[in-house]
Amino acid sequence: MASTGNTLRTPAISGQRTARRGADLHGTLRAAPDKSISHRSVIFSALADGTSQIEGLLESADVLATAGAVRALGAQVERSADGHWQITGTGSWTSPASPLDLGNSGTGVRLLMGAAARFDLVAEFVGDASLSSRPMERVLGPLREMGALTEAAAGGRLPVRLTGSSALKAISYTPPVASAQVKSAILLAGLGADGETMVIEPHATRAHTETLAPLFGADMSMERDGSGLVARVRGGKALKPAQIHVPGDPSSAAFPIAAGLVAGTGPVTVTGVMTNPARFGLYEVLKMMGADITITPTGTRAGEALADISVRPGLLKGVEVPPEIAPSMIDEYPILSVIAAFADGVTHMTGLAELRAKESDRLAASAALLAANGVKVELGEDSLTVHGMGPGGVPGGGLVKTLHDHRLAMSGLVMGLGAREPVTVDDVAMIATSYPGFFDDMARLGAKIG
Ligand code: S3P
Repeated sequence: MASTGNTLRTPAISGQRTARRGADLHGTLRAAPDKSISHRSVIFSALADGTSQIEGLLESADVLATAGAVRALGAQVERSADGHWQITGTGSWTSPASPLDLGNSGTGVRLLMGAAARFDLVAEFVGDASLSSRPMERVLGPLREMGALTEAAAGGRLPVRLTGSSALKAISYTPPVASAQVKSAILLAGLGADGETMVIEPHATRAHTETLAPLFGADMSMERDGSGLVARVRGGKALKPAQIHVPGDPSSAAFPIAAGLVAGTGPVTVTGVMTNPARFGLYEVLKMMGADITITPTGTRAGEALADISVRPGLLKGVEVPPEIAPSMIDEYPILSVIAAFADGVTHMTGLAELRAKESDRLAASAALLAANGVKVELGEDSLTVHGMGPGGVPGGGLVKTLHDHRLAMSGLVMGLGAREPVTVDDVAMIATSYPGFFDDMARLGAKIG
């Protein structure tokens, strides 16, 4: 880990890689720390007055970009050992001297815009090619409604210049898209607004902001409402430091678990995975597909339930994946598409319009990944149909275009571990944004990736 000025970096692994089958894939891994909770722990710590301790922070490029940004906004950021960070805030943020570069991170940039909006400061936000093509107006619109000023590039894209205000007003907002990033940006801005800010979600998304906020003394709460959720925050309360131990990431665990299902001799076990229902949709779908999967609860961490997840390879069947489940597995569709290619029968996934606004157009890119490897797929406006070829039936042999998208790169490599011919992905650099230990973990299971 290098730390120079406001830039914190992981060592880069980049370029093309090829995965091939034939390994005796099995073993036990500890889940990588959760990315969503890592970002939020850094941001809340930097907002508090005093020193917070974070244990098990995900040291990925995305989270380090957020840590670099809060340092530039006035917090002190120290790392004492692997995953152990101390962040000291003063309760107030100031204008950064240069643009805040959030790299590839949608969560980092959108949450920070919300958190910064409640201070009298001016900040410019920039990112890489992928992040610069993603929509920001979904966050900027409500922040303007609260009283911030924003200027963005054409189409509401980065670079964004945000002028915050210590006199924000509370709003009541129903986001037009199911997005935890939009909800969280508004709630973070609401921490400083006059009165009660409310976000109403017709379909609940991950509630990590709402769960962590009270640990830092914020007056934030949530109520379930059928499949929806109403989150509330009352502004003006000073935040106090906290100690957070980050739970394991179900989205990162999905890759070794998928490898165990499509290529292992089994079992593959990932320990310490957060089982929050708003994040656990993939594992529910795997059960529907008939996967040989065992989920053993092991306790809680930072208020989140944890489990060890174990899989063995076996016959999977194609299923209908209903649209209501999408918010709970929004990052898992590329890897589910790969798993579906190894199933018997057709898997049909709907309600996927949001996938087009991710690090890449993940809907089109997942379809292209499968098609390049000889799998029949049908791509709709917001749907994907995968014609499964059964275990051992996926031809492979393709070159996967990863389009600056970490989840496509990992999905392509997992496909190669089970396909008849090796699969090559064009660039693996982005894997470090969410799962820097991916190659070490896969090697520990015995995977052949070179
Ligand atoms: C995240 C929310 C999701 C998800 C992203 C992390 C978060 O994005 O795709 O990887 O931590 O809030 P959206 O809120 O845009 O759906």
